[in-house]
Amino acid sequence: MTERAAVRERFSGKVAIVTGGSAGIGLATVRELCREGASVALTGIEPDLGADVEKMLKGEGFDVLFLGGDMAEEQFCASVVQNVLGKWQRLDFLVNNAFSFVAKGRDAERTDWERTYRVGPIAYATMAAKVAEPMKQSGGGAIVNVSSISARIAQPNRWTYNSAKGAVANLTRCIALDLATYGIRVNSVSPGWIWTREVEKAAGGDRAKWEPVWGEYHMLRRLGEPVEVAAAILFLLSSDASFITGADLPVDGGYQGLGSEGLGSTSQFAGSH
Ligand SMILES: NC(=O)c1ccc[n+]([C@@H]2O[C@H](COP(=O)([O-])OP(=O)(O)OC[C@H]3O[C@@H](n4cnc5c(N)ncnc54)[C@H](O)[C@@H]3O)[C@@H](O)[C@H]2O)c1
Repeated sequence: MTERAAVRERFSGKVAIVTGGSAGIGLATVRELCREGASVALTGIEPDLGADVEKMLKGEGFDVLFLGGDMAEEQFCASVVQNVLGKWQRLDFLVNNAFSFVAKGRDAERTDWERTYRVGPIAYATMAAKVAEPMKQSGGGAIVNVSSISARIAQPNRWTYNSAKGAVANLTRCIALDLATYGIRVNSVSPGWIWTREVEKAAGGDRAKWEPVWGEYHMLRRLGEPVEVAAAILFLLSSDASFITGADLPVDGGYQGLGSEGLGSTSQFAGSH
């Protein structure tokens, strides 16, 4: 990973919602937004973890609010927006990040399908619809939907997750079109393999063993860090991206650019940073 740039203050006085902000990519996004001056509401489905994270971030001097609940429930989505407006009286940014990791194929039950879509694209759409008016009243805003490389490719036994991420890709364009007149830009990021809990679980906690293997799916021959996705999300939220909407930004170390030949015959894990 490259050296991180000095902290800029692109988001002073701004208010953001980050769904699934108590771990992984969401938590990194919350912290980077706070470091650049924003006040942030973060949601999570694990109340104890969320309370600990809120305490930790407040201890770092950040203005945050944890809201525990399930993004699959419309009432919870509505309460998140209400809580934010009650606390800060404005809303500038939304990061739709929480998703269901149910990854099933032929064995998927209807309940698996329903869960995947309700936590994923349906919640993304619900939140976008609910924030539109408050963001407009705050002078416009920006939304970033967290998609995935899985939105565009087939992977074994992944009918649920990959199709739901595919839905996010076109949902992003449709929301971008309709909210442009509200002064709201809407984009997505598509991460490659990022070292978070899900990947750590798959690796049995053994990063040294699995990074050389999974790293080879990426031109950069390594996994990504949550903060590298957060940096791309902040770019898309910021005025640096003022003429970008309806777009997807891959944050995948070159994953999507590789073909069937993979890294080629010179392939060797080099831990490129
Ligand atoms: N880690 C990767 O390699 C990777 C790759 C591509 C895309 N992504 C995407 O990045 C996003 C974040 O993934 P991560 O790896 O950081 O996950 P994570 O498990 O580290 O964190 C998930 C967060 O979402 C919250 N959450 C989960 N279900 C929820 C629900 N129903 N309601 C409210 N909150 C809920 C959790 O409490 C937690 O805060 C997801 O959209 C995922 O699909 C991850």
